[in-house]
Amino acid sequence: MQFETLLIDKKDEVALITLNRPAKRNAMSPQLHRDMTAALEQLRDDPGTKVLVITGAGDVFCAGMDLKEFFVALKDKPAEYEAVWKLAVEWRSRTLRYYPKPVIAMINGYCFGGAFAIVEGCDLAFAAEDATFGLSEINFKLFPGGSVSKALANLLRPRDALYYGMTGDTFDGAEAARIGFINKAFPKAQLVEQTLAVARKIAGKDGHALRATKEGYRYSLEMSWDAAMNFAMAKELELVQRQNDAWRKDGIGDFLQGKYRPGLESHPG
Ligand code: COA
Repeated sequence: MQFETLLIDKKDEVALITLNRPAKRNAMSPQLHRDMTAALEQLRDDPGTKVLVITGAGDVFCAGMDLKEFFVALKDKPAEYEAVWKLAVEWRSRTLRYYPKPVIAMINGYCFGGAFAIVEGCDLAFAAEDATFGLSEINFKLFPGGSVSKALANLLRPRDALYYGMTGDTFDGAEAARIGFINKAFPKAQLVEQTLAVARKIAGKDGHALRATKEGYRYSLEMSWDAAMNFAMAKELELVQRQNDAWRKDGIGDFLQGKYRPGLESHPG
């Protein structure tokens, strides 16, 4: 897989996607949105990939939308502007959210503006303690546009979203964890090792059960209770079909034979 703006490294069933425009602080250009869209489609059905991790090249995660190539260069090309706007919204805030495989954000440094929508679209997020987050839009007289406002409303408490949105103040990885924007912050030297350990642990689980876990959560959020219960029963039957009843046969079967204790450990198979 070769992309102009991305690096993709596959190992242990984990695909590490690196936003690779370090000279531009990994800002998301129109080409990066096109590349990400294509990469996510290729990895969707890749049998060797069970978990995705998204990070940035160098010491930066992502400086948000490319202010020059997107906002300025496409200003007088409304059709192209809207097409890129949609592409940008789509992969961060819909494709990642409903992706059939778990996706983890690994925030290794600066994370500004539009990059918040990547983090929110991912299922899990880990950052370096000294990473710098900021809703910088207000600093240049914009607001968190595209899917960013909605991403903030989904994940943050109102006070935090509006405080950081209105002040443009930066915050570090520890604060990002405290306000629930990420799962956990690690000392920078441990970020890759710790994040990939979580990714590998998740990759060791049943892929179909992972997908059902994610879809059960994501879709239920937007359903009434009755619809969610109906959906959960349908998902259960779908899972039986997808994995040939492995959860009942191996998962419960091996427990009942005393082979392992699922409360304390994962099924070995
Ligand atoms: N869009 C386009 N280009 C960007 C960019 C962005 N979001 N962020 C950085 N760049 C470019 C700079 O224009 C510069 O390009 P040049 O070398 O061709 O002049 C290069 O990346 C390095 O930027 P610089 O500001 O010199 O690096 P820095 O390490 O001192 O600071 C940032 C890094 C991210 C703090 C700073 O570039 C910045 O504030 N960027 C804007 C972040 C932002 O508001 N993003 C929200 C967008 S929705």
